[in-house]
Amino acid sequence: MSNVIIACDFSSAGQTYAFLEKFSGEKPFVKIGMELFFAEGPEIVREIKHRGHRIFLDLKLHDIPNTVKKAMSVLSRMDVDMVNLHAAGTKDMMRAAVEGLTRADGTRPVLLAVTQLTSTTKERMNADIMIPGEVADCVRHYAECAKEAGLDGVVCSPLEAEMVKEACGKEFVCVTPGIRFADSDKGDQARITTPAQAREKGSDYIVVGRPITAAEDPVAAYERCCQEFDGSPSKFFA
Ligand code: C5P
Repeated sequence: MSNVIIACDFSSAGQTYAFLEKFSGEKPFVKIGMELFFAEGPEIVREIKHRGHRIFLDLKLHDIPNTVKKAMSVLSRMDVDMVNLHAAGTKDMMRAAVEGLTRADGTRPVLLAVTQLTSTTKERMNADIMIPGEVADCVRHYAECAKEAGLDGVVCSPLEAEMVKEACGKEFVCVTPGIRFADSDKGDQARITTPAQAREKGSDYIVVGRPITAAEDPVAAYERCCQEFDGSPSKFFA
């Protein structure tokens, strides 16, 4: 199974199913983000799961601890594989999230903390968010807080994965968006690498949106990602 996660940033269920139906055989891991979830609600999660995909539900929660705990408890009843929140919400919020997400039998989806978005530059972080210093230092600090709070890993740039692993251990999961082929458009992303560089730097999973969803041949683009990231063609289309 490939650890390439396709960001299904579509605005409707119809578009999403039409896209996913292009993939025959074993099903890719998909990310459902705010656009699709807000448009279609929990039913889209149930249907995509029913179709056999692993799901990363990317809603990036950030609120007071009690609110996040309750929201996570709702998410824990959906059959998703990964969920996330913003580390900027504090360790108290992250601990509350772990509590809310943990089911009565002790199981829960993988919980990740977003560190700094891969679209954020040092200049914007310093000026707009008023965090001084380097993005990498902030990412490392947020990763350490997430680990202390009991989370499983972080969402960060592949450029930061190596450093996160050094700080938090190699079992601490790094999921990295900000992926572009050497010959593709950067779009609004800033801290980017190719799939192969992400692998070299220690990413466990890459999240790839537009380079696959906007490609003329999305299946071929996905295959290229798997080839570059996993080092072998995916077994999906044998
Ligand atoms: O199209 P692209 O490959 O840039 O999509 C990246 C996806 O990863 C988007 O769905 C975006 O919301 C998400 N993401 C990100 N940076 C983060 C966290 C999530 O780009 N730090």
